[in-house]
Amino acid sequence: MNRISKQLIDISFHDYKKRDIHGTVNYPAAMVAPMQKLILSKYLSQEIQSIFDPFCGSGTSLIVARSVKEDIRIYGNDINPYATLITRAKLSGVDKSIEKDIEELKGKLRKSDEREGMRVPHFKGIDKWFRSDIIKSLSLIRNIIMQVQNKRHRLFFWCIFADIVRQYSNSRSSTFKLHIKEKEIIDSLSNNVVNDFVNKIIKNAPYYCHRPYKSKVTKKDALNFLPLLREKEFDMMLTSPPYGDNATTVTYGQFSWFALNWIDPLDLEMDGWETETSSILDSKSMGGSRRVRIHRLDEIQQDLIKPYVSTICVKKQKKVLNFFEDYFYFLDEAARITRRYIVMTLGNRTVDRVKIPLSDITAKYLETKGYVIRERLSRDIPRKRIPRVVSRVNGLAVDSMNKEYVVVAERKS
Ligand SMILES: C[S@@+](CC[C@H](N)C(=O)[O-])C[C@H]1O[C@@H](n2cnc3c(N)ncnc32)[C@H](O)[C@@H]1O
Repeated sequence: MNRISKQLIDISFHDYKKRDIHGTVNYPAAMVAPMQKLILSKYLSQEIQSIFDPFCGSGTSLIVARSVKEDIRIYGNDINPYATLITRAKLSGVDKSIEKDIEELKGKLRKSDEREGMRVPHFKGIDKWFRSDIIKSLSLIRNIIMQVQNKRHRLFFWCIFADIVRQYSNSRSSTFKLHIKEKEIIDSLSNNVVNDFVNKIIKNAPYYCHRPYKSKVTKKDALNFLPLLREKEFDMMLTSPPYGDNATTVTYGQFSWFALNWIDPLDLEMDGWETETSSILDSKSMGGSRRVRIHRLDEIQQDLIKPYVSTICVKKQKKVLNFFEDYFYFLDEAARITRRYIVMTLGNRTVDRVKIPLSDITAKYLETKGYVIRERLSRDIPRKRIPRVVSRVNGLAVDSMNKEYVVVAERKS
């Protein structure tokens, strides 16, 4: 009995309320911080000096790593400029003078002359997605944030602003995709934009009060960026990649569309193409339809996915194959640039009622690349179910719906 209970670790964290920096900004499929902390507390030993998250999203892994090991060198990357803005804001934090900036901001919001000469952003569909009075209120805040001199503070304000933008948009909050609300719901929305924004910055600023953490965050396509990095460049890679093409799994790009258009482009790392359409980020992301693919699946890779892909209807096979061409290429590079541990948080998606066990496929593939699987964890996705979670060293994960999986792999030599 004792022996068994030692092997079982409750990693459900169903009571975790995100009353910390991780709860300040919404981002799809963000990691659950205490879960990552549990893993990092075990594997961030003395000799692990650097950590890299190539799909960092809202930066959960990096913030947690810093909380576990103060002197860790932190590297983050994401293709989405809104994700890198959130990550930068969290890593750079704010200083005590934020209180003064908040007071100034409140003062300006009260003054009506701030409305004169106010610039309204122009992007396709703004009148469809925002009521005209909401556009005015948001533009007022936007113009005032643009005047804030302290860049760290401005980044924090943009994060909170982007959440308010989404909250007051005409798109439903029940999906990450852009999906218009019913007219009656749009008409009945009361405009508390300014008050909600002010209350939210006051509430959340304390979570950001810290000196800037030493870190480097890039906004690049990981599949082009990783091949440029040196072999064993980072001691640990801890990440959660997309687990299918964004269009049919999680539309990070569509979710970020309003933020990318409302935030001052001077504070976003953009190449220009990101705001061409609301779907372009998703179609250029891993597995996306607008990617140029030059890597074909080799025999080992084909054998790993054949049992699942062969049972999917032909029409849907293409998308799955596209994803795996990108995904295996990423794993090849991850295996090359990591010196010791690769820690991946993954979801298993279902296509045509066929479950594709990404965590099993990943573990098996990393073994062929000279890694040993040290640990596999599975947990119910937060708030979906009553948690029941088991940790098994070198064992198989329990396969069921609404779960996420963590694979810890260690390089053999
Ligand atoms: C599961 S999310 C990461 C969430 C993150 N762990 C967090 O806690 O917020 C996956 C991320 O991969 C990014 N992504 C997708 N394709 C990419 C690519 N080709 N290069 C870099 N990032 C990419 C998406 O923009 C998204 O932010």
